[in-house]
Amino acid sequence: MSKLWGGRFTKKTDQLVEEYTASITFDKELAEEDIQGSLAHVTMLGQCGIIPSEDVEKIKEGLLKVRLRIVNGEQEFLIADEDIHMNIEKALIDEIGPVGGKLHTGRSRNDQVATDMHLYLRKRVVEFVDQLHKLQAALIGQAKQNLDTIVPGYTHLQRAQPILFAHHLMAYVSMFGRDIERLQDSYKRIDMLPLGAGALAGTTFAIDRQFTAQQLNFGRVYENSLDAVSDRDFIVEFLSGASLIMMHLSRLSEELILWSSTEFQFVELDDAFCTGSSIMPQKKNPDVPELVRGKTGRVYGNLVGLLTVLKSLPLAYNKDMQEDKEGMFDTVKTLQGALQLFASMIETMKVRKDKMRRAVDQDFSNATDIADFLVNKGLPFRQAHEVIGKTVLYCIQQNKFLLDLTLEEFKQFSQLFDDRIYDVLQPEAVVNARNVYGGTATPQVTAAIARAEAELVHT
Ligand code: ARG
Repeated sequence: MSKLWGGRFTKKTDQLVEEYTASITFDKELAEEDIQGSLAHVTMLGQCGIIPSEDVEKIKEGLLKVRLRIVNGEQEFLIADEDIHMNIEKALIDEIGPVGGKLHTGRSRNDQVATDMHLYLRKRVVEFVDQLHKLQAALIGQAKQNLDTIVPGYTHLQRAQPILFAHHLMAYVSMFGRDIERLQDSYKRIDMLPLGAGALAGTTFAIDRQFTAQQLNFGRVYENSLDAVSDRDFIVEFLSGASLIMMHLSRLSEELILWSSTEFQFVELDDAFCTGSSIMPQKKNPDVPELVRGKTGRVYGNLVGLLTVLKSLPLAYNKDMQEDKEGMFDTVKTLQGALQLFASMIETMKVRKDKMRRAVDQDFSNATDIADFLVNKGLPFRQAHEVIGKTVLYCIQQNKFLLDLTLEEFKQFSQLFDDRIYDVLQPEAVVNARNVYGGTATPQVTAAIARAEAELVHT
């Protein structure tokens, strides 16, 4: 069984070396992209008169047959043929005979593999934007149901100021919005064609790279042949965008896990998204957000892994670069699963408005507002802060909340208090007092939801 590159060799490849260097076990994922690239390349070779059009037709037909066999799971891939590129080329030659050997004219596996990766990620990025939109829609849906749900807002995981639960959810809509922008921006650099760079220096054949780019619908071709075959920045960018998405999902996961604990009881995840314990019959574990939080680690690992692979590589292609694939495929799979599950988990999540309200009623998150009340009466903010600090301390000692105090009790701390404070201290009033663009007041959140929905429709 001869190698496509066997001419220069007098010995067989060591069996272990063959296994160690082969990438077919994972890069078979690129089969479709490899065939797409080859179809465009051979069309261009015909167009430029580099190979006769009857040969182009034979090669195209052969490639389509190989594609069909792959799709039907009938094509055998061999470690001995190293990678997807040579497996497909071998299959083509088996199919149509030596004329199949003309396909690789004016091309190298170096520009070929880079092209495959660009084609692959270009599709994935479009799908991820779509998945992120679906997740945003699920969050917006919950936000609309919770425009009247008040929940403690936290800093340091200590109750800070009451907010609308809708406002909290919309924060994630903004985060995923930035993730979408980042993917869309990275698309510009994914949408570039390396093919035609040859092994590193270009090719002696009078090819037409623009024509190939048009065939494959690429916006640009790489300017420099060395850069074209050496560049993996676009994969690093994708992995970094994916890391941020996972980080956002992981923060949301953490909140969902906390909120579904008995200590919080703010939300209940649908049974379909939880699992039980093999020993403790009462348990309902939030496995999905836990695993998403956990899998964030492997996506970060894939990012750092590729950055490290690339950091000292001389130009141009080095075999090290074959290591760009598994982390990318793993990231794609991890992200696909997480985004898909999250959209339905958010959609089906039950929000315990009553528990959230009780948490708000039983805390001091309205303290800032009562300080602001004194400020509006002319007291400098620092003094007002001190007065309310003492008032809160008194409440804690008396086992009361601010709304439980009588006006006389309030007046012990400042004569500026009057009975309007009871309105000011109501959670609804506290929330609606923050009527600043981007704030938690109902009109602001309603407007934010409308803007986010308009954005979803337009994209
Ligand atoms: N399997 C190789 C990779 O993924 C394809 C390119 C091989 N090029 C070469 N000159 N050996 O990187």
